[in-house]
Amino acid sequence: MKTAPPTSTPHVVVVMGVAGTGKTTIGPLLAAELGVPYAEGDDFHPPANIAKMSAGTPLDDDDRWPWLDAIGAWAHGRAGLGGVVSSSALKRVYRDRLREGAPDAVFLHLTGDRALIEERMADRKGHFMPPALLDSQFATLQPLQADEAGVSVDVSGTPTEITQRAVAALRRLDS
Ligand SMILES: Nc1ncnc2c1ncn2[C@@H]1O[C@H](COP(=O)(O)OP(=O)(O)O)[C@@H](O)[C@H]1O
Ligand SMILES: [Mg+2]
Repeated sequence: MKTAPPTSTPHVVVVMGVAGTGKTTIGPLLAAELGVPYAEGDDFHPPANIAKMSAGTPLDDDDRWPWLDAIGAWAHGRAGLGGVVSSSALKRVYRDRLREGAPDAVFLHLTGDRALIEERMADRKGHFMPPALLDSQFATLQPLQADEAGVSVDVSGTPTEITQRAVAALRRLDS
């Protein structure tokens, strides 16, 4: 059986949400499902930001602008081709900054129950984000607003289930 050709331009998807919500887990699975490349948002941090986070100090906005601009530049490079990139993008202003680089980006907000995310964070080894930063993550989070292109998907269940949920939600964006 032949698969129907894509009916619209491939999306550049920014996977957003608080630390531990599954961006790094779901991002590559979603990219594979969509047949587009994945970029890990954490890899765009300058070393100074990583040092700060390792010390348990939340980043301030001055630390974030060059990081967001680098992610936006990658997303811009994938415009019309499709791609998936992770970036917590917790505040509206951060998403506005990403859209300055990549106006057509759509956001996939991975949302989850605080207790579930905390449990998943506790199991995570060798990552630079200590669980104590989760409080500030939730305090900072501004969900997608009505005028922002994007979808929210709940992160209960397995990575495969979440990925399928995300694909279906993104498909509904086109209809
Ligand atoms: N659906 C899931 N079920 C079980 N564990 C998960 C799921 N998604 C992510 N995890 C685990 O939760 C932790 C946080 O996920 P991660 O993808 O690193 O989140 P983020 O990149 O948003 O900080 C990791 O240890 C990951 O393996
Ligand atoms: Mg991650």
